[in-house]
Amino acid sequence: MSGGAESVVGDAGRDRAGDAADGRAVGPGGGGAADVVRRLGGRLAFGGDYNPEQWDESVWKEDDLLMRWAHVNLATVGVFSWALLEPEEGAYDFGWLDAHLERLHANGVAVDLATPTASPPPWFTLAHPDAMPVTAEGVRLSHGSRDTYCLAAPAYRQACVRIASALAERYGEHPAVAMWHVHNEYATVCHCDHAAAAFRVWLRARHGTLDALNDAWGTAFWSQRYGSWEQVLPPRATQWHRNPGLALDYRRFWSDLALGAYREQRDAIRARTTADRPVTTNLMLPGYQVLDLWAFGREVDVVGIDHYPAEPGPGAAADIAFGADRARSFGGGKPWLLVEQGANTVYTADRTLPKEPGDILRHTLAHIARGSEGAMFFQWRQSRAGAEIWHSAMVPHAGPDSRVFREVTDTGAALTRLAEVAGSVVRARAAVLHDADCWWALDGQGLPAASLDYPAALRRAHRALWDAGITADFAHPADPGLDRYQLLIAPALFLLSDAAARALRAYVHAGGTLLVQHFAGVVDERHHARLGGYPAEPLRRALGVRVEEYRPLPAGATLPLSDGSTASEWSELLRLASPAEAVTTYAEGPLTGHPALTRCPHGAGTAWYAATRLDDTAYAALLARLLTDSAVHPEVPLPPGVEAIRRHSPTDPTLSWLFLLNHTPTPTTAPTPGHDLLTTRDIPPAGLTLPPGGAAVLRQRA
Ligand code: GAL
Repeated sequence: MSGGAESVVGDAGRDRAGDAADGRAVGPGGGGAADVVRRLGGRLAFGGDYNPEQWDESVWKEDDLLMRWAHVNLATVGVFSWALLEPEEGAYDFGWLDAHLERLHANGVAVDLATPTASPPPWFTLAHPDAMPVTAEGVRLSHGSRDTYCLAAPAYRQACVRIASALAERYGEHPAVAMWHVHNEYATVCHCDHAAAAFRVWLRARHGTLDALNDAWGTAFWSQRYGSWEQVLPPRATQWHRNPGLALDYRRFWSDLALGAYREQRDAIRARTTADRPVTTNLMLPGYQVLDLWAFGREVDVVGIDHYPAEPGPGAAADIAFGADRARSFGGGKPWLLVEQGANTVYTADRTLPKEPGDILRHTLAHIARGSEGAMFFQWRQSRAGAEIWHSAMVPHAGPDSRVFREVTDTGAALTRLAEVAGSVVRARAAVLHDADCWWALDGQGLPAASLDYPAALRRAHRALWDAGITADFAHPADPGLDRYQLLIAPALFLLSDAAARALRAYVHAGGTLLVQHFAGVVDERHHARLGGYPAEPLRRALGVRVEEYRPLPAGATLPLSDGSTASEWSELLRLASPAEAVTTYAEGPLTGHPALTRCPHGAGTAWYAATRLDDTAYAALLARLLTDSAVHPEVPLPPGVEAIRRHSPTDPTLSWLFLLNHTPTPTTAPTPGHDLLTTRDIPPAGLTLPPGGAAVLRQRA
């Protein structure tokens, strides 16, 4: 590869999610998760990041024993091993890795072999200081942690391809290797001169001419007109609000650059190995959005995610569902893999909490229920030194004689009884619309209210469905296959392309039920305001509303509505167009009597518009009505906090597996029969009682 901005941009971005929006396309490599399961002898994956280089031989011997004991069958190896694998530029030391791969293989543990590129060694930094990332404030970072690199620096990209190729050359056909794990959590964003040069290459490809760029970014405002490409910079620290078009394009560019970097390593590996060893990277879910995950979902052979809940109790379960439903959706509904979870870690704002007894199994099952082909942890053995010394592991500091290791072992044993669910799929009838462009645009400055929070709105919609017992997908708003859903919820659909506006209208016209929430379809892909009233046409026609004016409410203020509920955060002055009707109106304030919630029959479907943020009870009641209207029902009606999620056999329409998970402290009866794979008991027609924290996986025949 030649050095320079063209080489690092490559063909990145050739099929961004917004342009080729069908998230169901299949990645090019092999059978994905099915290949991993096959290499595991048909079993679900169970294991974690394994860093034997932190330990000595006596510990390796114990690891062998304990891995067998815990039913571990997959270990992610080499994620942060660059400094050992390549101690000097171009000089490799594979001997130690050879020995560990042989040992793992002999012990029946397959390997998810990582490329170590998330942490370049100190020699690399000193030789290539220009490959260290620069913050928006202009601070160039130094080594001493991890994730310290610039994806636009040619020296870094070349070094990544070199080490990935060397690993694939050596281990491409190694019998221990079941899959490839490129990099670790692509997340670092840089603002250096390499990034600026690559950004310009990307912008030329996207906009063509400088005039088109000036037009797209509205540079007539605030005297920002660019007279040459060289004048364009990344969104570095500046005096006042950044140009929103520039800020949004930089997010798109960076995601495309990361995807290009991923492809480059993936292709180097594929060229040196057989195709049935899937290649992936671990995406960081649920809260992090540096990447367009629809685009990554199309390029990885199996979607891999890392997930760490941010609250204990049922909140953790809702958070797992949010991450897992996204993982499945980004992969087009195919089985995926949980590549990392914490054995005993719940990250809250100010503390790392331990998990409660039973959580390890139940959290693991919650991921598998939603399509994961197993569960992996970060990491196998808790480190004795280093930056993550306090991060939990399958084998804690206390050693195997510990609650955590006993629960890990029980979980591994439980998974051996679930092998038959491998390859089965989740079928959701409802979806929440999800678009990286919207997330990034609403991350911008100068918006009318601080309450416009994309991830919060997305989570609230998903959580309300979760509370109602509904397993939901996520879908891209321009997905041409939206008609596979009976109900769509569109929270915070701030940015909407013409194609998406058309797809949503067509969805309703063909019989779908759609709820659009406030401040939707107000800008196009260039971040230009929609003129003539919001939301964008032709969606506006389907909704039967025309929003003339928005009126954000003060933080904490509420506004009564005509049905006795309250609204907060936002209000809008809108006009109805026949046949739309107001379901509720504002009962106080300058908009008294104006519609707050509307409903419009359109073609064979119905489109709803919520012009404000309904309170939790009213939002839940609205979703309950929409679920009834669209005939979307829970698998089994159960109290909030008790999940029932179904995986279907892809080949036998009569066969499915129902996962029942009680995340509450109260026993619950699930009135449904089957054969429980966890206890190997037959459950009678009256069903079974799930104790507090209890779980069952029922094989059922229709
Ligand atoms: C993940 C990361 C792991 C480990 C873990 C725990 O995001 O991939 O390497 O750091 O978090 O903090």
